[in-house]
Amino acid sequence: MTNPAETLVSRPPVPAAGPAIVLERRDDGVAVIRIDVPGESVNTLRGAFAPELEAALDAIDADPSVRAVVVASGKPDGFVAGADIKELIAATSGYELSELSRRGQAAFSRLAASNKPVVAAIHGACLGGGLELALACHARVASSDEKTRLGLPEVQLGLLPALGGTQRLPRLVGTEAALDLLLTGKQLDARRAQRMGLVDEVVPTPIVLDVAVKFALARTAGPTASRAGSKRKAFAEALLVKNPLGRAVFFEQAKKRTLAKTHGNYPAPERILEVVRLGLSRGLEAGLGAEAAAFGELGQSAEARELMGLFFAQNELKKDPGVAGPNAEPRKLKRIGVLGAGLMGAGVAYVTAVNAKLPVRLKDRDERSLGRGVAHLHELFVERARSRRLSDFERDREAARVTPATTYDGFDGLDLVIEAVFEDLTLKRAVLADVLATGGKNLIFASNTSSLPITKIAEGSVAPERVIGMHYFSPVPKMPLLEVITTERTAPWVTATAVELGKKQGKTVIVVRDGAGFYTSRILGPYLNEASFLLAEGVPVEAIDTALVRFGFPVGPVTLLDEVGIDVGFKVGKILHEAFGERMALPPGVERLVEDERFGKKNGRGFYDYGTKKKDKREVDASVYTVLGVEPKSDAPAPDIVERCVLQFVNEAAYCLGEGILRSARDGDIGAVFGLGFPPFRGGPFRYVDAVGPAEIVRGLERQEKAHGERFRAAPLLLELARKNETFYGKPRPT
Ligand code: NAI
Repeated sequence: MTNPAETLVSRPPVPAAGPAIVLERRDDGVAVIRIDVPGESVNTLRGAFAPELEAALDAIDADPSVRAVVVASGKPDGFVAGADIKELIAATSGYELSELSRRGQAAFSRLAASNKPVVAAIHGACLGGGLELALACHARVASSDEKTRLGLPEVQLGLLPALGGTQRLPRLVGTEAALDLLLTGKQLDARRAQRMGLVDEVVPTPIVLDVAVKFALARTAGPTASRAGSKRKAFAEALLVKNPLGRAVFFEQAKKRTLAKTHGNYPAPERILEVVRLGLSRGLEAGLGAEAAAFGELGQSAEARELMGLFFAQNELKKDPGVAGPNAEPRKLKRIGVLGAGLMGAGVAYVTAVNAKLPVRLKDRDERSLGRGVAHLHELFVERARSRRLSDFERDREAARVTPATTYDGFDGLDLVIEAVFEDLTLKRAVLADVLATGGKNLIFASNTSSLPITKIAEGSVAPERVIGMHYFSPVPKMPLLEVITTERTAPWVTATAVELGKKQGKTVIVVRDGAGFYTSRILGPYLNEASFLLAEGVPVEAIDTALVRFGFPVGPVTLLDEVGIDVGFKVGKILHEAFGERMALPPGVERLVEDERFGKKNGRGFYDYGTKKKDKREVDASVYTVLGVEPKSDAPAPDIVERCVLQFVNEAAYCLGEGILRSARDGDIGAVFGLGFPPFRGGPFRYVDAVGPAEIVRGLERQEKAHGERFRAAPLLLELARKNETFYGKPRPT
C-alpha cells in the first residue's frame, strides 16, 4: 500500500530550475550554505528544499575539513522572506501541511544539532521560515541596513510558524518577548532584534558574511550556543514561565488578552499560545510535534484560507497597472502638488515625501491653515525618525522634500496635483480651474473628495481627461488603501500614472468607476444607515457596536459615525439618497442629531460621552436617546443587528460590481477590508457571500425586505448568482 504522505507531498509544487541550496567550501574551513532560489528575485522556502538542506548537511558531516558553517542568501537584498504561500494554498489536506512542516523541522533540527558551529549571515528580509532557519543556527549576524527585517508574520495569515519557530524563539529570547513577536507578526530592524537577544551582532552590510565566518570559526573552540539573551531575562523567565504555577497564570492572562482582541474569530493566536506552552512544559520534541499538528489544522481553516487569499490579492494588485489598452503608459512623475494642508493633505504630502520620495509643494489658503498643516507634518516626521531611529540629518532630508506655500508659485512645474480642500463642489471646481490654468498641459488633477462625483468636479473644466479621483483614507500614513476613481473621460495614461503614484506612496490601489460614493463610501453608507435605523428603533448604541465588533469589525458602526463625524455622515447620506432614491432613504432622527450640533468626536458631542477620562472604554451619552425621541430597548437580538447591517454592506457591494463601479470582486474585497475594516478573516464582502452562499444571502434580504421595505432589495447580480447556483469567485457552490 502506498503511504498517503508520500503521494501527497512528493508532488512537486513548483518545478525549480536547479538547486535552491548550494554548498560552497572556503579555504578557511568554513562551508557556506547558500540559499538562492533559481529564477526568483526573493527566496521563499518550499517543501522540496528540505532534502536539499539535508544533502548539504550530509556533505558537511562527511567532510572533516569543514570546521564551521555559515548560512547565507545568494540574493543581493534579501535573506529568506518566508515560506512559499502558493505551496501552502495548494495543499489539499491538513495532513499534507503537517507533513511539510515535519520534514522542514527535521532538516532544521539537524542543522541545530550540528556539532560544527552554524552562524546565519542575515541581510534583508528574514521573515517567517527565513527567521526559523536563522533560529536553527547557533548564532546570528545581521546587517544594519533598513532592509533587514526580522519577524514571524504567520499569525497575520491565520497560521503559526511551523519550522520550529514557536519552540526556538521562546528558548532564545524569553517567552514574553517571543509571544510579542508570535502573536502580532511584527517585524524588527536589526538593532531591535539585537536588543531583544534575537541577533548576536549587527554590522554594516558589506561585512556581514565576513563577520559571520569569524563568528563561526571562533566557536569551533568553545560552546556553540548563542551569546544572545541576558541574565535578567533568564531570571524573569524562571519566575514567570519555568515554574508550573507561574506558567499557568502567565498563559491564562495571555489568553485572556488575546481573546479580548480576537473575540474568538482568529484561531491562530490561541493555537500559538497552546503550542508554546506545551513546548515549555513537555520539551522541544513534543513542542515541535504540536506545532506541526497545529499547522495542518490552521492551514486548512477557513480563516487562514481567507487571509492567504487577501495576501495574494494584494500581491496581484501590486502588479496591476489599473488600466488596460492603448495609451495606458504611466508618465514619469517628478514633482507633486498638494492643495489643502488639513488632516488629509498633510498625510498625502507625508506619504509622497517619505515613501514615493518625491518633492511636494503643499499649498493652503492662508498662513494660519498652512502653519497648522506644517506643524502636523512635523509631528509625523519626528515620530517616524523616532520609530525608525533616523538621524536628525536623515529626518531633515526627508522633511525638506515638502515645501509649503500660500500661493500657486511653483505649480507650473508640477506633474500631478492632489486636492484635499474642504468638501465643497464649488470650491473644488474653483481650485481645479486655478490649477489647470497654472500648470502645464500634461498636469494631472486628482481630487481626494470622499463623496462628490469626480464627473461633477470635472464638468466644464478645460481638461476633463486629466481629472481623476484619488481617495485616501484617514489617517493617510497608516491606512493601506487608495481608491482611484476614473470618469468616462479620464485618459488611460492619467489612470495609470495615478495608480503608479499610489503604489509608490505605499498603498494598495483599486481602480473604480465614478458614481455617487464611488465604491467605499457607497457601501459604507447603507451600512451606517442601517445602524441609524436600529438606533431610531431604540436599539441601544452598545448593543449595535458590540454585535459588529464580535462579527469582526475593528469598531462598531456607531463609534465609526462618531469618528467620521455625524454631520459628514449625514451629508454623504443625503448625496447617496439623491443618487439612489428610496433604497437609501435616511432614518428619522439623524437630522435632529446634526441640528443638536452632535458632530461626533471632533466637537466632543456624539453618541458617546467624550467628557469622561476613560479613553478606552467610553460610556454612551444617554441624552442621545432623548434627541432621537426613543426609549432604549433591553431586548435587541445581536444576530438580527448583525444580519441587517452586514446584508446592507454586502448587498451594496454586489450592486457596485453589477453596475461596473468595481472591476472585480477581488477589488471589492480588498477595498472593503483595507479601507473600511471589513473582517479580514472573512475575506471581504464577496468572499463572505460566497462562503454563506448567494441564495442564503438573498433569502436573508427577502426576509428583511418584508420587514423593513425597499432598502433591502437584493442586487440583480446576487439574484442571478442565487438562481444559477454560482458564486462571485466563479466556482459553483457544492450542493
Ligand atoms: P480639513 O478641514 O482638515 O482640511 C482642509 C484644508 O483645506 C484646510 O487646511 C483649509 O484651510 C484648506 N483649504 C480650503 N480652501 C482652500 C483653498 N482654496 N486652497 C488651499 N487650501 C484650502 O479637511 P480634511 O479632513 O483634510 O478633508 C479634505 C478633503 O478630503 C475633503 O474633500 C474630504 O471630504 C476628503 N476626505 C476626508 C477624509 C477624512 O477622514 N477626513 C477621508 C477621505 C477624504
